[in-house]
Amino acid sequence: MKTTKIAVLGTGGGGRAHAAKLAALGYEVHVGTRDPEATLARTEPDMMGNPPYKQFLAEHPGIHLHTFADAAAAADEIVINGIDGHNAVTALTAIAAQLAGKTLIDYAVPYLYGAEMEHPWPTPFGTMPKLDPCDTDSLAEQIQRALPNVKVVKSFVTQEQDTVVNPRAIGGDHTMFLAGNDTEAKKTVTDLLTSYGWTDILDLGPLVAARGMEMYAHMHGAIGMALGIGNHFGVKIVR
Ligand SMILES: NC(=O)c1ccc[n+]([C@@H]2O[C@H](COP(=O)([O-])OP(=O)(O)OC[C@H]3O[C@@H](n4cnc5c(N)ncnc54)[C@H](OP(=O)(O)O)[C@@H]3O)[C@@H](O)[C@H]2O)c1
Repeated sequence: MKTTKIAVLGTGGGGRAHAAKLAALGYEVHVGTRDPEATLARTEPDMMGNPPYKQFLAEHPGIHLHTFADAAAAADEIVINGIDGHNAVTALTAIAAQLAGKTLIDYAVPYLYGAEMEHPWPTPFGTMPKLDPCDTDSLAEQIQRALPNVKVVKSFVTQEQDTVVNPRAIGGDHTMFLAGNDTEAKKTVTDLLTSYGWTDILDLGPLVAARGMEMYAHMHGAIGMALGIGNHFGVKIVR
């Protein structure tokens, strides 16, 4: 079956980047949000400074906004998870029926904001959030355990929103990772990554490798702060 309808769950900066890219590639894009009316009624930028979603939709005609459930139901094969990491398992479990049998590409980071920490990491943007789960589990594995009928593939997560959909913007030959337990689903995601322009795609194996990808978020943050705001970057596995 040829994929024509893709769902993007999430209206944040990452979700917008994927929705816009997929629409430009010719897919029918169905975006999920908690409450479409509430999302469309927002008039202020979100906490990351993204303009109101209504403005994004006006600039990207043809993208459809629904509830998370209706967006997932509209996808023929691929659903992208861009729901805030701390809330993703609960939100996705609630739409298990609509996700059943589909490939879920998860790029969320299990950041826990405002957690008490013995040794906080101060940054120019406030205390670095804690990763939870971390080390002995991952968000992607939690999602997979909660949704055994869904083919979870972790990917995109090591790259920021501006470059994940346009790797050539920073040279092009850096490395994108993926991990998952279903070989066919990983092939589907590899094809999508190729259509985004990725040429160096490294399959890290089973979904347990998502632990490494999620923990890289702290390294990504450290590199980003060292280079300064607005300096995009990627990693290259030299071998
Ligand atoms: N942006 C990036 O460059 C990037 C890169 C790598 C990884 N990530 C990670 O990917 C995830 C998504 O990032 P993002 O920047 O695209 O968006 P985000 O701003 O982190 O998350 C936005 C989405 O989370 C949903 N959400 C928030 N609280 C919720 C709750 N209590 N229940 C259900 N849904 C809730 C929002 O729903 P509504 O639509 O209803 O508001 C919205 O759709 C995050 O974990 C982030 O750390 C982001």
